Amino acid sequence: MNKLNIGVVASGRGSNLQSIMDACAGELIPARVAAVLSDNKDAFALERARRASIPAFHADFDSFPGKPAYERSIINILNEHGVELVCLAGYMRLVGRDLLAAFPGRIMNIHPALLPAFPGLHAQEQAWKHGVRFSGCTVHFVDEGVDTGPIIIQAVVPVRPSDTAEDLAGRILEQEHRIYPEAVKLFAEGKLEIDGRKVRIIA
Ligand code: GRF
Repeated sequence: MNKLNIGVVASGRGSNLQSIMDACAGELIPARVAAVLSDNKDAFALERARRASIPAFHADFDSFPGKPAYERSIINILNEHGVELVCLAGYMRLVGRDLLAAFPGRIMNIHPALLPAFPGLHAQEQAWKHGVRFSGCTVHFVDEGVDTGPIIIQAVVPVRPSDTAEDLAGRILEQEHRIYPEAVKLFAEGKLEIDGRKVRIIA
């Protein structure tokens, strides 16, 4: 089977990037990480990519006249590396119209809550403060909204009475590292079909 080329866009530590790189390297998914991009030059995600000899790029938002030009530079890098699927992994910016249009139905994100509950920043803390009994994580396709796109996979994590927000975030992260590679695998195998708000998983 031909390997799918993935581009990962991250702003921070890159543990989800690592889980995808590991799954690719271990041949658990028929894909390879072809490029890693970050809007943050100090993101550890870039360092993880370099250590794995994967091309790593810093796209400096402030050095462009605006979002369209910034995204155009990202699109160019992704295209130059033959990227077919874009995985956002802790990317702290809203994806703009240009990037969405360049990869229609081909951008995924991971969110640390059971969407549509607790979108946006600090989702684990939002859930913990709200007093929910269960939270979790969601891999979804990206649309123009904040964490609103069609849902691919979710994992449920119980909230224990003794949990701090950090405890909960840690247990959610373990599940993120399991379901993100799983979603990428389904995509790489051609098993995901978007039908309006729903994502059909073809057996
Ligand atoms: C994860 O919790 C992810 O769900 C959220 O941002 C965090 C990124 O962590 N979107 P990492 O950089 O992958 O370690």
